[in-house]
Amino acid sequence: MIPLSLAQIARVTGGQLCHGDPDAVVSGEVVIDSRRAGPGGLFAAVAGERSDGHDFAAAAVAAGATAVLATRPVTVPSVLVADVPAALAALARSVVDALPAVRIAGITGSSGKTSTKDLAAQLVERLGPTIAPAGSYNNEFGHPLTVLRADAATRYLVLELSARGIGHIAYLCRVAPPRYGVVLNVGHAHAGEFGGLDQVARAKGELAEALPADGVAILNADDPRVLAMAGRTEARIVTFSSAPVSDAPVRAVDIRLDDLGRPSFTLLTPEGSAPVTLRLHGAHNVPNALAAAALARELGMDLDGIADGLGAAVARSRWRMEVHQRPDGVTVINDAYNANPESVRAAIDALVHLAQGGRAFAVLGHMAELGGTSRASHEDIGEYAARIGDSGLAGLIAVGEEAAPLLDGARRVRSWTGEALAAPDGAAALELLANRLKPSDVVLVKASRAAHLEGVAAALEGEAGQ
Ligand SMILES: Nc1ncnc2c1ncn2[C@@H]1O[C@H](COP(=O)(O)OP(=O)(O)OP(=O)(O)O)[C@@H](O)[C@H]1O
Ligand SMILES: [Mg+2]
Repeated sequence: MIPLSLAQIARVTGGQLCHGDPDAVVSGEVVIDSRRAGPGGLFAAVAGERSDGHDFAAAAVAAGATAVLATRPVTVPSVLVADVPAALAALARSVVDALPAVRIAGITGSSGKTSTKDLAAQLVERLGPTIAPAGSYNNEFGHPLTVLRADAATRYLVLELSARGIGHIAYLCRVAPPRYGVVLNVGHAHAGEFGGLDQVARAKGELAEALPADGVAILNADDPRVLAMAGRTEARIVTFSSAPVSDAPVRAVDIRLDDLGRPSFTLLTPEGSAPVTLRLHGAHNVPNALAAAALARELGMDLDGIADGLGAAVARSRWRMEVHQRPDGVTVINDAYNANPESVRAAIDALVHLAQGGRAFAVLGHMAELGGTSRASHEDIGEYAARIGDSGLAGLIAVGEEAAPLLDGARRVRSWTGEALAAPDGAAALELLANRLKPSDVVLVKASRAAHLEGVAAALEGEAGQ
């Protein structure tokens, strides 16, 4: 981060300096994990459910941190504040204000933020020094901590903005005001907490509202709730679309998937067209790639650079559509990072595509935070799994009691000849699969984060003589 003295940090955060030299300088990383505290850094002590960061204040300073940001007195150099996230936000904002040359992009949507952020970062890095968060570091802690990594050399910030309620994205946009805003889609992720899709749209649209008149709103023309956000911004609108017919300036046409579900398409822009083949799996990565392309184009990247960059981009964050081919001929799709109705449908589509010629199995845990529509949503996904392709999935394994309505939905499809199997936990799911899987079968593993099905996927990947 840009060097700040403890006196400056106290002033910006409205905090009180304790036991410290006001001229001591923080120039290293700001962290909330004391184990990551290093020379010249700042350790923000947070009281969590299991442990209290204040207990590690001395260890952080011993590891080289210049000081600690704390809400109660500690025995080492510290700045005492009332609220640590608010202090981090104030610090991040002061860093952004001190770096006017940095161009800030925010990416939001119900599904695909991290995938798009990782794609966009890999394009924008070609234009100049870029800071982007690791994984889904996108909330009231991760967001300011990411922004605080910026320094005088930084040219671009590519940020993932998440919301679990109204006002959250507006808040993140005040911490680091974006000039470029990407909205991917409005879906059912966290829809229960929001109280319906219209509320989700209201929340995601706060990004469009936060953009300045000389900013750019990059909107998915294929999602009517996203397109409607054009009416909520002063910024110039740039749309993208993967529909066969569209007047969006950034488009994908001739979309095809290879045997492993990797999309190829022709990228159309006002400057011309270029062929693109992604290394990522699943057709849902086409709109993600278009959003990244539209952003890079606005930042000045030419068409060839965009097409080349998209083709070179790899999955940077784990457990999102990882395709693993076992020596025994079974393919495992590890999409265990999280799940909501849209992303499960997208993953089932990819599963069925990959299974051409073989049988498709899905190991699905429950989709969290859907509120009152939860049971119906699970039943609908089960039905989708039983209807897809020529004859539905060969097997649907629901892990845990909360996922059981998936099976009820699948059984609604009278013509379905696949198996509906209940597994109390991941180990039971593995047992059910063990005597069913044959060469050329494909298995998808997916659930909400809380279900931790990545262990099931890892066990499946490791099987058969690895
Ligand atoms: N555009 C999309 N439409 C539907 N599903 C998608 C899309 N992009 C990604 N997905 C699915 O959603 C899952 C999560 O992707 P990703 O981590 O990129 O989303 P996210 O929005 O960052 O999620 P989170 O809210 O947990 O941070 C992926 O595993 C994939 O199955
Ligand atoms: Mg994410």
